[in-house]
Amino acid sequence: MSKPDQYNVEIPSNEVKDSNIKYFTTYTYGCQMNHHDSERLAGQLKSIGYEYTESLEDASFILINTCCVRESAEKKIYGKIGELKNLKVSNPNLIIAIAGCMAQKDKEKLFKKAPHIDLIIGTHNVHQLVEIVKEFEESKDRVLAVWDQAERLAPDVPTIRRGKISAWVPIMYGCNNFCTYCIVPYVRGRERSRPLHDIIEEIYQLGLDGFKEITLLGQNVNSYGNDTKEYGDFADLLKAVDQVETIERVRYMTSHPRDINDKVIDTILNSKKICDHFHLPVQSGSDTILKMMNRGYTTDYYRELVRKIRKAIPHASLTTDIIVGFPGETDELFQETLEFLKEIRFDASYTFLYSKRSGTPAATMADQVPLVVKKERLQKLMDVQNDISLEINQQFTDTVVTVIVEGPSQRDENRLMGRTTTNKIVLWDKQGTEEVGQLANIKITTAQTWILKGKLID
Ligand code: 5AD
Ligand code: SF4
Repeated sequence: MSKPDQYNVEIPSNEVKDSNIKYFTTYTYGCQMNHHDSERLAGQLKSIGYEYTESLEDASFILINTCCVRESAEKKIYGKIGELKNLKVSNPNLIIAIAGCMAQKDKEKLFKKAPHIDLIIGTHNVHQLVEIVKEFEESKDRVLAVWDQAERLAPDVPTIRRGKISAWVPIMYGCNNFCTYCIVPYVRGRERSRPLHDIIEEIYQLGLDGFKEITLLGQNVNSYGNDTKEYGDFADLLKAVDQVETIERVRYMTSHPRDINDKVIDTILNSKKICDHFHLPVQSGSDTILKMMNRGYTTDYYRELVRKIRKAIPHASLTTDIIVGFPGETDELFQETLEFLKEIRFDASYTFLYSKRSGTPAATMADQVPLVVKKERLQKLMDVQNDISLEINQQFTDTVVTVIVEGPSQRDENRLMGRTTTNKIVLWDKQGTEEVGQLANIKITTAQTWILKGKLID
């Protein structure tokens, strides 16, 4: 079963749990933008007196923030919504809210599929949660809050954060790219850039609140500023963020390979704080498929981009997303992706089975690939990538890397976790001298496919 989101707030222990207090919990699926939306939804609930709990049974408000980028996510979420039915039977006052991309896509259809839902909140309505809850409490009737279009600038709302060290800051919303497989432009609307001074102010304040690392979020961060000439472009934004003295590191997600330019690479090279990690989703290593995906670049263009990045910043890490089984992907075209992976040698690839999303152009394309074939290809791709990731990570054995101490590892309280600027996850046995948020030097002793393990050195 999926886990509730964790927030950086005090959780009342069972003894002090007060029956007069209303508790809420949230579950989030999908990308970091969705996780950040949950932080804004949770912050609004807290502002009207709800306290956070990890326990479904104690909650009188349960929010599921949904993703619809692949069918597998939707299935999981419907399973989760189904599980809540019994809770509603035993507690008729329980409020169940569905937010996010599935809410935006399916709207009132969700009420039909799951009559125990009370609130449906679209992606453009996140900032309205307080009003929505008020309306529900007054009318005692279900509320559907799904605007078809976003306001240019949604107002700021109270936010509670998931972590203490690393925070997400949205810089733009929506996407204009319409890659033919992707539902995102339909559920997140057109590109809207956030004002530069709002972004800088939020980051400055996060630094004062103790955060060390910021991840700038957007579906396509490199288009920052394209919708208005007021704020400069993405490179100008990076330059400004690099100057914020209260924080130490800056990451950003996600870049479109077509839009990342020399100015951005140059800015990163000359910056103090922008991390030397490039996540550049290539999606396929076949020009035929890239064209059908409407990605707007060729493999040669991508090769040249990687060459430029590696020339400018040789130690930079490079990760990617790849979709296998896009309609029309033959064995030969898939082989081109495998070869491309071997040629580029990404540090890591996030690999996905193509999932048909109704309403997108690819859903009705000829030659859909059978699931068994997609799964075989995914396995082949992962085998090749895992070997490469391990080989790259092995080069770190016996070297010393610097990480920000983020806290205990998920599996073991006595092990600490931190990340390098290149986004490698590093684990080591806790020595007791480390402090969360501080830099630590770790000598790597063991390299694995996804993580590095080592020892703290003074
Ligand atoms: N099927 C499979 N993967 C998809 N992605 C987006 N849409 C789909 C889809 N229909 C992947 C892309 C994107 C990542 C976030 O999700 O690789 O980069
Ligand atoms: Fe989807 Fe393409 Fe936009 Fe990314 S750039 S969100 S894959 S349409």
